Amino acid sequence: MDKPSIKIGILGLGTVGSGVVEVLNKNGSDIEKKVGRKIEIKDILVRDISKKRKTEVPQHLLTTNPDDILENPEIDIVVEVMGTIDLARQYILKAFENKKSVVTANKDLIALHGKELFEAAEKAGRDLLFEASVAGGIPIIRPLKECLSGNRFTRIMGIINGTTNYILTKMSRDKMEFDDALAEAQRLGYAEADPASDIEGLDAARKIAILASIAFNSRVTYEDVYVEGITKINSYDIRYAEELGYAVKLLGIAKEADGELDVRVHPVFIPKSHALAAVSDEFNAIFVEGDAVGEAMFYGKGAGKLPTASAVVGDIISAARNLSFGMPGRVGCTCFYSKKIKPIQEIESKYYLRLLVEDRPGVLASIAGVFGNSNVSIASVIQKRIEKDMAEIVLVTHTVKEANLRDALKIIEGLTIVGNIGNVIRVEGSDT
Ligand SMILES: NC(=O)c1ccc[n+]([C@@H]2O[C@H](COP(=O)([O-])OP(=O)(O)OC[C@H]3O[C@@H](n4cnc5c(N)ncnc54)[C@H](OP(=O)(O)O)[C@@H]3O)[C@@H](O)[C@H]2O)c1
Repeated sequence: MDKPSIKIGILGLGTVGSGVVEVLNKNGSDIEKKVGRKIEIKDILVRDISKKRKTEVPQHLLTTNPDDILENPEIDIVVEVMGTIDLARQYILKAFENKKSVVTANKDLIALHGKELFEAAEKAGRDLLFEASVAGGIPIIRPLKECLSGNRFTRIMGIINGTTNYILTKMSRDKMEFDDALAEAQRLGYAEADPASDIEGLDAARKIAILASIAFNSRVTYEDVYVEGITKINSYDIRYAEELGYAVKLLGIAKEADGELDVRVHPVFIPKSHALAAVSDEFNAIFVEGDAVGEAMFYGKGAGKLPTASAVVGDIISAARNLSFGMPGRVGCTCFYSKKIKPIQEIESKYYLRLLVEDRPGVLASIAGVFGNSNVSIASVIQKRIEKDMAEIVLVTHTVKEANLRDALKIIEGLTIVGNIGNVIRVEGSDT
């Protein structure tokens, strides 16, 4: 006799939810062979049943009552692809109370309430899987938790926001200004009407919090991440980066040194020879450094209906297999340490600085003097444009402590010979 089907309830039928339905419909017969049981959609929660939908779904599957899924004893797996934080948290906790495994794509929720949700999953003895929450279609959560789990990781760096990577690519390749590149990203659907979460780096901060927690086995929440977005990058920064042999990228960075974690999101100058420099347009990539594997990079589409559905369906298959073999909850929370987060002032980096200063003799010596007094050693100074009576200079430092650089910049900002500090960007990924 055929084994009974695994029944799933889906919360949400928007971009990702419809992708999940399409992939399950299209590849269902192969998926059934892979799992050994059919995966059957029992119910789908939406806000508005009468809404016209591009993905065809039998009307009887749609419901506006979450309890049709959460309280239905027939349903084995709840797939949360509706977004929101409070409501999704409440529904997922209820799903665990009712002994269901949960698959979610919700990075906002995992980055904020991961601990509570993992505890609930463990108590229920069920799976909490969230591969789609970071970098959409790119497998990275399971590789870190399983395939690479024999490693001690030293560093994770990722282009984990497609919108900002698209904008920076347009600024660099097509010489567009930031506002024009953003407008084009919005027109093509790569950026939201309100792009703040992407361009201010908040979306990437949620994702690097999740990756850092897994890689370093210590809970990092969204609030722990130091964040700067890309709104201050202008076409001069892009041009000077090119001249110096760098690409400008928004990176999520997580490192461990001496038992402390350094977790941040900000634009960087990265050498053109680095694998991440070649990741363009809306693509994402995550670069991982482990003590056994060495360097590895994961590349692909970080968002979109089908790439994201690919990750969600992969998780549904894993959860279904685990249930079939009687071992749900097999890979639970791996945050068994509690490591200190290093304040940004304590990190060490090289920096690119763009300053507008008076165009007269002695100015450079005064500025060099301030840096020297704060232990900031300058590797190179190049004069770029003249703007009225002011000269634009570009400096690159050696590796220095961020607190020392900030002290120096506070003094430099107050000097009458300085018009403004145009930008300060960290240089990442080079050892010299
Ligand atoms: N889009 C991507 O490329 C992507 C990539 C990675 C992760 N994610 C994550 O995946 C999740 C879903 O994103 P999405 O882009 O698919 O969102 P979306 O297109 O806005 O779809 C949301 C769906 O959830 C339903 N919904 C929302 N609030 C509800 C509520 N209170 N009660 C009942 N149903 C509700 C909506 O119902 P109606 O259809 O009736 O309005 C809609 O079907 C989010 O957590 C997002 O961060 C998305």
